[in-house]
Amino acid sequence: MTEKTTTRDELIEDIIDRYDGETGMLIPMMQDLQTECGYLPADELRRLAERLDLPVSRLYAVATFYSSFRLAPKGLHEVTLCIGTVCYLKGAGRISEAICSEFQVEPGGTTPDGLFSYLPVNCVGACALAPVMIVDGEYHDGVSVDAAMEILRTLPAEEIDSEQEAQT
Ligand code: FES
Repeated sequence: MTEKTTTRDELIEDIIDRYDGETGMLIPMMQDLQTECGYLPADELRRLAERLDLPVSRLYAVATFYSSFRLAPKGLHEVTLCIGTVCYLKGAGRISEAICSEFQVEPGGTTPDGLFSYLPVNCVGACALAPVMIVDGEYHDGVSVDAAMEILRTLPAEEIDSEQEAQT
C-alpha cells in the first residue's frame, strides 16, 4: 500500500514536472496519466487537482468531455458503437440503451465484470453500413438490437491465446 502510494505520488509529481506545473497543460498531463495507468484513477485525479490547485470537478469535466479519456480500467474487449446521425437514425440509440441496461455499463465505462469497455463515438466513416458496432477492431454492420446483444453475450470471458487457437 505504502509502495503503491509512493509510486503513484511520484508519478503525479513527475507528470507535473514535465509541464512545469502549467495548468494550461492540464489535458496533456491527463493524457500522460492515462498512458501510465491505462485509465484515469479517481485517487490520482484528486491528487493532480490538489497539486495544480484546481477543483477536481474541472478534471472530471475534461475527462467526460473528451471521449479518449476513460475513467475505468479497460475491459477485456473493446466495444465501440457509432451513434453518429445516420447510425442513430437507424437504431444506434436503442442499441446503446440496450447495451447499458443489460451489461450495466455507462458510455465510456467498463462492465462490472470487466468483460468489455463500451465507447459510443460519432461517425466512423462507414455510414452506408449503419448502424455500425466495432468489437475488438472487427466491424459489424447493419446490426439490430438483437444482433448486437447476441454478439456481446457471446464474447469470450477470457483472453484467447492466438497460438492455442491456431493449434485447435
Ligand atoms: S454515422 Fe455511423 S458510420 Fe457514419
